[in-house]
Amino acid sequence: MSGARILVVDDEPGVREGCRKILTAEGYDVTVAEDGQAGLERFEAEGPFAMLLVDLMMPRMSGLELMREVSARDPDVLPVIITAHATIDTAVEGTRQGAYTYIPKPFTADELLLAIKNGLERRALALEARRLRADRERRMLELALERSRSTTIITAMPDGVLVINAERLVVLRNAAAARIMPECAERQPPFPMAELASEDVREIVSVVLDAPGGFMILTREIRFGEQVFMTNVSPILEPDGSTSGAVAVFSDITGIKKLETAKSMFVSMVAHEIKNPLAAAEGWLNLVLTGAAKVDRDEERRMLERAMVRMRSLRAMVNELLNLTAIETGRFQLHRVPLDPAAVVAEVVEVHREKAAGKRVTLLVEGAGGGTPVPTVLADRAALSIIVANLVDNAVKYTPEGGTVSVATGREGMYATVSVHDTGIGLSVEDRERVFEEFYRVRSEQTHGITGTGLGLSLVKRLVEQHQGSISVDSEPGKGSTFTVRLPVEGIP
Ligand SMILES: Nc1ncnc2c1ncn2[C@@H]1O[C@H](COP(=O)(O)OP(=O)(O)OP(=O)(O)O)[C@@H](O)[C@H]1O
Ligand SMILES: [Mg+2]
Repeated sequence: MSGARILVVDDEPGVREGCRKILTAEGYDVTVAEDGQAGLERFEAEGPFAMLLVDLMMPRMSGLELMREVSARDPDVLPVIITAHATIDTAVEGTRQGAYTYIPKPFTADELLLAIKNGLERRALALEARRLRADRERRMLELALERSRSTTIITAMPDGVLVINAERLVVLRNAAAARIMPECAERQPPFPMAELASEDVREIVSVVLDAPGGFMILTREIRFGEQVFMTNVSPILEPDGSTSGAVAVFSDITGIKKLETAKSMFVSMVAHEIKNPLAAAEGWLNLVLTGAAKVDRDEERRMLERAMVRMRSLRAMVNELLNLTAIETGRFQLHRVPLDPAAVVAEVVEVHREKAAGKRVTLLVEGAGGGTPVPTVLADRAALSIIVANLVDNAVKYTPEGGTVSVATGREGMYATVSVHDTGIGLSVEDRERVFEEFYRVRSEQTHGITGTGLGLSLVKRLVEQHQGSISVDSEPGKGSTFTVRLPVEGIP
């Protein structure tokens, strides 16, 4: 307590100086003032002080008034009153107003020192108690904040969370869990785990809670209606190693599952698609090699050509798959050069002529050799070929015998357009939105027997978008469809 700062205010110079001497000798840091007003000025200029030693009767400002002013500025200052016998009553009043005690004049050095020592101790205790209280309040606040923060996090989690205690009561369930398991939404925790509808959930939670030695984490795929959840149950362990409950976390893997199914469907589709042309080519080659057909050289040559056609279509298909994965993984590099879309259309149409003729579908290029010139686009030649070829291929494929497929090029504002129109089977509104999805194929009586991977349009859409273009479809079931690709005209930023 030595070194504590004490302000002594008394208009009697003897008392003032006496106090200063006694207290300084004991190691206190003493400041003196001759009346209330001067005391307040000192206090403001030289504070903070631990203790105020104050006379009551002083000119300009009384001791009680000074006490009030000081405690208004710093409530931690402990006032002690020095009082003459005549003012004892006022001193008692002073203690009522917050003074720690009073020392009647005349007093001995020991009396003064004892009062100061006790006062400072009492002040130190009060300060410590307040610090502890503030600490505890802060900790409680932090704890409450921490709790509400974890609750907020758990509530906001997209994964479902259930907490089950050792008594097998569900003590917490978040909003996602309530969505996954409607029975949780209807009940307010705690409720018995037996009321959970899923037998799988009840079972794995029980296994984890009952695990000998206490530590076991279980993971199981659990189906809730249309959705599949990866369900992970972990024990809540106490410091002594015992299990006080379990946490179950439900992550929605429906999308991943669908993708898995789509991928394996895709693989079997590809295998199927490869099998037929491969078998056909093999058959022709076999005929030639074994000489079983007993044919002349011309006939032999035609057989080899047929095998070749099959090999080419196989290679085209493999290329399509490679392109798609290349775009998917960002490995597809576009070499964009100024191109005339009409020229690309003409080439592609030529390639498809034979197939269209074989199906008795009329294949036309509209506006060829006249009309408005089509603007140049900045495009990758191979990509533009793939785009047009897929649209023409589909149009021919999904148009029954006797129909017509026409390809037109044109301009719409800042875009050059290529549209492929057919008089084929058309698309319903729902199918129109989905045909650009990977693997999506319309399954109907009309598409029965038409093979394909369902990848063509998704490849087209991606390529078009890589050119900052767009693709749309206009169609009516039974009447036909028009697919229109828009690519930005060259030179327009
Ligand atoms: N012109 C069209 N008329 C009617 N339906 C179409 C037309 N073009 C596409 N479709 C429908 O959209 C589906 C997806 O077309 P997409 O080109 O992606 O695949 P695909 O033709 O089945 O197979 P791939 O092109 O990979 O050989 C088709 O299966 C078909 O049902
Ligand atoms: Mg196709």
